[in-house]
Amino acid sequence: MNVLLLGSGGREHAFAWKIAQSKKLKKLYIAPGNPGTAILGENVNIGINDFEEIRKFCVEKKINMVIVGPEEPLVNGIFDFFVNIEQIKNIAVIGASKTGAMLEGSKDFAKEFMQKHNIPTARYKTFTLANINKGFEFLETLRAPYVLKADGLAAGKGVVICENINNAKATLTEMLNGKFGAASQKVVIEEFLNGIEVSMFVLTDGISYKLLPEAKDYKRIGDCDKGANTGGMGAVSPVCFVDDEFKQKVCSRIIEPTIAGLQAEKINYQGFIFLGLMNNCGEPYVIEYNIRMGDPETEVVFPRIDADLLDLLEGVATKTLNSRKNKTHDETAVTVICASGGYPDSYKKGIEISGIENVDESMVFQAGTTICNDKLQTSGGRVLAVTSLADTIENALKKSYESIAKIKFQDMYFRKDIGQDILNYKK
Ligand code: AMP
Ligand code: GLY
Repeated sequence: MNVLLLGSGGREHAFAWKIAQSKKLKKLYIAPGNPGTAILGENVNIGINDFEEIRKFCVEKKINMVIVGPEEPLVNGIFDFFVNIEQIKNIAVIGASKTGAMLEGSKDFAKEFMQKHNIPTARYKTFTLANINKGFEFLETLRAPYVLKADGLAAGKGVVICENINNAKATLTEMLNGKFGAASQKVVIEEFLNGIEVSMFVLTDGISYKLLPEAKDYKRIGDCDKGANTGGMGAVSPVCFVDDEFKQKVCSRIIEPTIAGLQAEKINYQGFIFLGLMNNCGEPYVIEYNIRMGDPETEVVFPRIDADLLDLLEGVATKTLNSRKNKTHDETAVTVICASGGYPDSYKKGIEISGIENVDESMVFQAGTTICNDKLQTSGGRVLAVTSLADTIENALKKSYESIAKIKFQDMYFRKDIGQDILNYKK
């Protein structure tokens, strides 16, 4: 198979790493990719939303499959773009259709979908500026803290949690008046869910599905979950409280009704579903759907998949996923993100990175890196994801932190407490 992978983060480096091991791979291209993906395939300088250039490239290079890493091209309709053009309609696109992508692209759509299909989630209502007073009334019926969500994509910043009612009303007013631009023209207000969060991942061909390894990520910049939200500062897999009973509940109450709901609504969906879940005393609730893999979760999930990813994805494309083999390694995977000092606020770029070549016990997935004058430099906030596999979480963490000690760049920052909550978790 000739494969084109879209994206340029640590997630895509992990995709490229896994795809490069496939017996079914002939040639891997990554658009636009990063210096890490360039080691595993050929980077091509095409933007992920430049559908016309992607079409031309796919025809020229006889691409068989396009794998979409980030959500944006899917929300913009790349799946439908391919299906609707005779010349490229037989090229498989791994991802949701434009309507399916609304599960991530519109919180209101996702909540309505869950309500319609009896999928456990927080009680909610959606408001616009025209009925803001009804929004204030709804807030009065809830208990603190209050959860307000911009309906549209807001670069991961569209969720505001308010401690008191006055603050919630003021935030609702600000959001409906454009705090997050068009994304907050509609605002979902929902009940606050208590519990511990976990990410679960599903691959579906629209009929059957495979459950992939679960992961827990660490969103705050500081140790002990302090400070600003980030894209994720580390991840671990497996997660101790995701036992067979919990998985069974997620499959029967969430995944199966989700796939049945997509079928009932005639929504094409052939790709990954990322469930952001709250475990409330052993009961799973959906916080959010994402239509892609997580980053940095992919950097721990893929190393634990003991199967040929392209074989699974071929199953997705041909709706024969049911007949493909999927297994999970027993080992624990952890990843620790090395970030630029200052992230998620402003930070310097163009700082030389050294020492990756000395790492032998971990995998170093590149995210915010670039090559300048033959030297590897930082080019983003999250720079590297250092992943290790071991028999225990303690040993995996030890390997990642020892590997990080070999890597140097000015003002490098990483969390020191990845996985500690799992180590201390008591049922
Ligand atoms: P989202 O973008 O929907 O994942 O929300 C961002 C974060 O806000 C989640 O990862 C949770 O930590 C938190 N959150 C969202 N919805 C709720 C909820 N209903 N109850 C408690 N926390 C929530
Ligand atoms: N790490 C969270 C995400 O990818 O959305």
